[in-house]
Amino acid sequence: MTSFGARFPTTRLRRLRYYPALRELVQETRLTSANLVLPLFVRGGRQVRQEISSMPGHYQLSVDQLGEELRIAADLGIGGVILFGIPDKKDSTGSDSYSDRGIVQQALAAAKQAAPELPVITDVCFCEYTDHGHCGEVNDNTGRMDVDNDVTLQLLAKQAVSHARAGADMVAPSGMMDGMVGAIRTALDDDGFLHLPIMSYAVKYASAFYGPFREAAESTPQFGDRRAYQMDPAAAAGQALREVELDLAEGADIVMIKPALPYLDIVRDVRERFLGVPLAAYCVSGEFSMVKAAAAQGWLDEKAVAMEMLTAIQRAGASIILTYWACDVARWLK
Ligand code: PBG
Repeated sequence: MTSFGARFPTTRLRRLRYYPALRELVQETRLTSANLVLPLFVRGGRQVRQEISSMPGHYQLSVDQLGEELRIAADLGIGGVILFGIPDKKDSTGSDSYSDRGIVQQALAAAKQAAPELPVITDVCFCEYTDHGHCGEVNDNTGRMDVDNDVTLQLLAKQAVSHARAGADMVAPSGMMDGMVGAIRTALDDDGFLHLPIMSYAVKYASAFYGPFREAAESTPQFGDRRAYQMDPAAAAGQALREVELDLAEGADIVMIKPALPYLDIVRDVRERFLGVPLAAYCVSGEFSMVKAAAAQGWLDEKAVAMEMLTAIQRAGASIILTYWACDVARWLK
């Protein structure tokens, strides 16, 4: 079997499992709060703290409630937050997303006041802002209703620059448009944001695990689905490598794989092929909610399962994990 070491009984793998300190000594994967990013949902109004029913412990927050949440996250030492905006008014182009008075722009101002040291990433997409719920501008120029890739690129660039001007520390395009990273990089550079990194949702599958998020962000498509732009879970695994390669060529600083747990093979493939590229994985809403639901029934131990899942995601090769458990993990590790 192994080419090194002796066999049983000379070799006994149980020796290094005998007591906790030894197990810790040989442990290679160690979760750290500094590598975790917490997703947050902001909406209009005042004093709003509306629990998301499918994601217990997570809320749609009005801007005035955000500061406190960010202070807690910063004090727990988590690596950053990613903001999702739910505008008061949605329209066909998702104009709130690139308005100076947009919900995310207001949230950024509040964030920078409450916790200036905490990196704030913004999700750059249109599904939360459009009345049709798709991730870009929709028309029938190709003979059927579809998201117009190249028109959407211009809007994405506009949105990213607007977020940057409002104080974002990093932008994270998540719409799976071809060329989105390049369009955003050029626009940011032209506006003087040479230093602002892009974390690309490079490998994003059309996944049923986003269900609870769509309730949280009120972003369910009003017709059709997202399979004409997000990836097919059954596609050749190598397609993920092509997505990453293209995004890196366009200037992505961090690449993300999403969802995380059902796609650990992809995390591992990307890690092996692109050594040295910061790799993020998004443990999405459905991954969180199913554990919460089982834990509420007494069927699973939430803390143990969450720690095991996140450890597995890191072990597969992700160095950054976006997770709704970010603050819980920081507390559990203390
Ligand atoms: C799109 C976006 C989605 C998620 C993050 N960014 C939803 C989608 O593609 O429908 C899902 C995250 C989650 O499920 O936790 N802006």
